[in-house]
Parts: sequence; C-alpha cells; structure tokens
Amino acid sequence: MCGIVGYAGARPATPILVRALRDLEYRGYDSAGIAVLGSADGEGLVITKRVGKIVNLESALDSSPGNEATVGIGHTRWATHGRPSDLNAHPHTSCGGEVVVIHNGIVENYAALRSALTARGHTFASETDTETIAHLMEERTRSGLPLLEALRLTIGELEGSHAIVAMSPSEPGAIVAARVGNAGGVVVGYGEGEMLVASDLAAILPHTQQVAFLASHQLARVDRGGAAYINGDGSPATVEPHRVPIDPVSALKGQYEHFMLKEIMEQPEALSDTIRSLVTIEPAGIHLPDLGAMSDRLSEVRRVILIGMGTSLHAAMVGRAFIERLSGVPAETDNASEFRYRDPVLGPGTLVVSVSQSGETVDVLEAMAVARAKQAMQITICNTEGAQTTRVAGGTVYTRAGLERGVASTKCFTTALVALYALALRMGEANGYLARERIAGHIQDLARLPDAVARVLQDHTPYRALANHFYDARHFLFLGRGLAFPVAMEGALKLKEISYIHAEGYAAGEMKHGPIALVDRSFPTVAVAPAHALRSKLVSNIEQIQARGGEVIVVASEGDDELAALADHAIFMPAVPEFVEPFVATVPLQCLSYYIALRRGCDVDQPRNLAKTVTVE
Ligand code: F6R
Repeated sequence: MCGIVGYAGARPATPILVRALRDLEYRGYDSAGIAVLGSADGEGLVITKRVGKIVNLESALDSSPGNEATVGIGHTRWATHGRPSDLNAHPHTSCGGEVVVIHNGIVENYAALRSALTARGHTFASETDTETIAHLMEERTRSGLPLLEALRLTIGELEGSHAIVAMSPSEPGAIVAARVGNAGGVVVGYGEGEMLVASDLAAILPHTQQVAFLASHQLARVDRGGAAYINGDGSPATVEPHRVPIDPVSALKGQYEHFMLKEIMEQPEALSDTIRSLVTIEPAGIHLPDLGAMSDRLSEVRRVILIGMGTSLHAAMVGRAFIERLSGVPAETDNASEFRYRDPVLGPGTLVVSVSQSGETVDVLEAMAVARAKQAMQITICNTEGAQTTRVAGGTVYTRAGLERGVASTKCFTTALVALYALALRMGEANGYLARERIAGHIQDLARLPDAVARVLQDHTPYRALANHFYDARHFLFLGRGLAFPVAMEGALKLKEISYIHAEGYAAGEMKHGPIALVDRSFPTVAVAPAHALRSKLVSNIEQIQARGGEVIVVASEGDDELAALADHAIFMPAVPEFVEPFVATVPLQCLSYYIALRRGCDVDQPRNLAKTVTVE
C-alpha cells in the first residue's frame, strides 16, 4: 500500500523524488521521507522524513542538505507496524548507517527477527518491521558482500510478501530492489542517462515510458547506466523493458478540484475507449484481443466464479448476472479474501474471472494463485497494462479507463462492467447460447452507453441540492434489486469511503428482515429503481420506508413520474436497455457521494485510513 521510488541519474534527485511521492501519495499518506546519497559537500547519507502529508516533508526539505545529490530513494507510508510518526516513517537505516531501506509489505516474522537482532547487538530506532531489513542487510554488507547479494540473502529470511528498495554509502550511485510475493509491484524505468525504480507506473511515467516489471523473487540493481537482474537463487534473470502506452497527462487533475470528480467526468470517454477496444459496431463483433489461450477455451466453460474486492467485487456481482443471462453458464461471486482461504471446489470446466483495476491487490493475487494450483481456467479484468494479475491469468480483458488516481474508484468500476458485458457476450457467442442478432442488439446498446452517461453528468445541480439537504445525516440505506443490487452496494461503499457516513447497501427484498428497524426521519434511503430493476417491487419497499417516517431519494428512469411523485426526492437517469442500467444508475450515486463529502469538508481524494492499492492482508 505504500508508495516507493528510487532515482539514480545526473539530475538533482530530491525534486524528482518529491514529485514522485506526490504522484504516489494516493497509495498511502500518513508519513513520507526521502534519503539521498552524496550531499552538496561531497558525501554522506541525508535522510529527511515527516509524519503527515508530503507537504510536511517538503517544508522540512527546504532546510535539509543534500539538494545536489543525484541518487536517492523515497517513500510514502500507510502504517502497518508502528503508528504514523517521524521516527516510523521510511527510509530506515541500520544502526551503523550502512544500509538505508524503504519497503512495502509486512515482515510477518519481524518480532522473532527483531529479538534475534537485538540479541546480536543491534539497536532499533523505530517500531517498524521494516527496520529489521536494514539491520539484516548491514550484517551482510559488513562481511563484505555487495548490496544486491545482501538483499538477496536477506529476503530469504523474511516471511510475507514484500517490495524492497535499498541503497548504501558503500555503493554510491546504485539502488537495489526486490519483489517477493504479491505485496506490490516493482517497476524499473529506463530514462536517458538515468534509471528509476518505483512501486508503480505513476512515479515513472513523467520521466519515461520504457519500463520493466519485476516478477516475484526477482531482484534488480540499477545505476545511471542501466539495470542488472537476478533471481532469488542468485542466477541471472532476463527482464526485458517495454514501452507502456499510458499518457502521463491523464495523471493531472486538469480543471477539476479533485481527481475523483475528474474521473467521474471522464467516464463517457473512458467507456467509449473501452467499448471501442473490445467491440466493433459495423459489422457487429466482440474482439477480446488479450484473451490469449483462453480465446479458444470459452466453449469449455461450465461454471464461472467471479472474484474481486470492494468496488471490483461489486463489478463482479453485475458481471455474474451478465454471464448467466448472456451465456447461460452458471456463475457465482466470491470475495477474493474469502475464496483464497476456503479451499474452493473447482471442478473441470471452472473459469475464475478476477476483477482488479490495479492488478496488484494482494487478496486477488493470492486467490488467483489458489485457482491456478487447482488448475482452473482464468481470465482477469484489469486497467493496468502488464500488472501482476495479467501475468497469472490465461487471458485478460483490459479496460481503457486511463490512470485512476482518486482513492474511491469510479471510472474503473463502469469500465469493468463493459469488460464483463463483452466477456459475457463472447462466451454466449462461443457456446452458441446467443444468436448473432441478439449480440448485435447488445452491441448497439453498448454503443449508446457513453452518451447516456454523459447526459447524467450534464447538470450537477440536483446532486449539490441533495448534498446540502443530507450532508449531516449519520446513516444511509441503499436499496436495489436485480442488476441494481450491486449498484446499491457500490453507492453505499462510495458514500462511506469519502464522507465517513455509515451506509449499508441491501437487496431491497432483505429490507424487511432487519434493516427496516433502523428507519426513522433521520435515516434516509436511496432506492435505485430504474425501469427494469424489478421497479414495481421497489415501490412497495419505498412505501414501507415512508410509512415509518424515512425520507427516500429515488434513482429512476426519465418519465417515471409515478416513482418521482412517491419518493421525497428523485434523480432521473436516461431510460436505457436493461443491461445498460447498472452503468448509468451508478453515476448519480458517485456524484451524490462526491458532493456530500465536499459539503462535509472531507479530503475526497485521500480519505482517511484508505489506500488506492491494497497490497497487504
Ligand atoms: C473503492 C475501491 C476499493 C477497490 C479495491 C480493489 O472505491 O477503490 O474498494 O475497488 O481495493 O482494488 P483493485 O480493483 O485494484 O483490485
């Protein structure tokens, strides 16, 4: 979850590292620090770190030496061991100051390592698990081993998954990095006379699009002249750099106050890019170019399990309905963190479809490892070219949402629905369940989707007005049926993430079995009731809530005056075909959450306790 960056080149490292940390701040933001080697007066290690946001680090750097150093590492932290503080912020050094380390992951055996190191005379400056790595490496560099070898032997002693970057005054100009398991990626960036390492592309892309990804148990040593790679057993590794096609400009906030709003507004374009990359309209056809070996195996599929976490799990829930209804194959969903531990029964013909925008979520990767061990077919839905999930799965359906920076996922949810819709259509085509004309009809519906979403986004006045009315509510209930049920779950998740209002998403039929006990005037309900989502059943749910004094906001299809008259507040969305409704109905809920959070003065892009990519259990 933490952000990691290293730079070795000819330019001053500090501003490059600070900018990279800003680009990585969405991964963790409770403290940050950098270490540079070779200060203005020649030598030495200068470490500056501060609790709080990057701005605190920047103020501290103003008075810190080392401004002309051209090699350094930086870290933005999401605390696991040790509360957020200056001392616990990374980088961490060994007691002799010979090794400096930044780290993403959890050293699961750190208590045992720490007491063994203490018994051997090491003194600890922080409460972190990371510091053990610096001490373990120092024991090896002291015995004369090069830094990369010290790191290689050290990772053999660590339990858990890790991304580690280190440097040492004994090897000025060099940075070493290792990836172990799924705690997070390590990307190596190839610039002109300079090299970078980072936890993800956001830190690299402003400098170069030429990158290489470390696989698990691979290590790299970079200096300004290039990179060398080894495997965990010490043998040389072949890691080829390639060009990634993401436009760095999309990383900027542009005219918008927050990334979340920018990304909400980008949805028509992101949807259109994703649709164009997966289907042709004339002649109508589904083309999933990255399905690889899975292309020819879709007709073998007898059962589908869709897995994901958070918003991606909600996308998977919509995907389940798409797959069952468009391909006739039984489908179910599971939370990846449950799936990985429940010893799932995956018979022959089982396809596991994982959904992960980052492709780095540890629970998803571990669940995929379980599916692989059980020889299930696998397809992954991902927004990040070359991410770890795409290397594990037999095939990928990429979404083309561009970089998503807001911690609360928006455009990656709706574009994941496109990928799942296209996959379901392709499965229905492959197994003969769907006639060609039906496929063509669905493609027409998809083609009109970006426009429908653009219409929802035209006027924000209703969302602002509702936010003014409801911003001080303490609880919210979100209800939906059928395809609108996962949309209700997603609406509740968005609201709680960024506004800290307690919200529950429920299948509307479940409401009478408990939640209705909570309803009173101070407990508003959002009913997601577009025309096809068992709307008439929702009418009676709304009446039951109102009978108990609850206020109801309804998300209804345009022209549904009956529902609008019944509810206390109505948000209208264009009337669209059934399978397109979940896309369009989600967008007003994103906007509602955004404006409520804004009205409450919350930090929309960096909500407390959250991180964009969850690489720890
Ligand atoms: C919510 C949100 C998270 C992610 C979840 C999975 O707004 O962003 O719930 O959806 O952490 O992340 P990915 O899709 O990267 O696996």
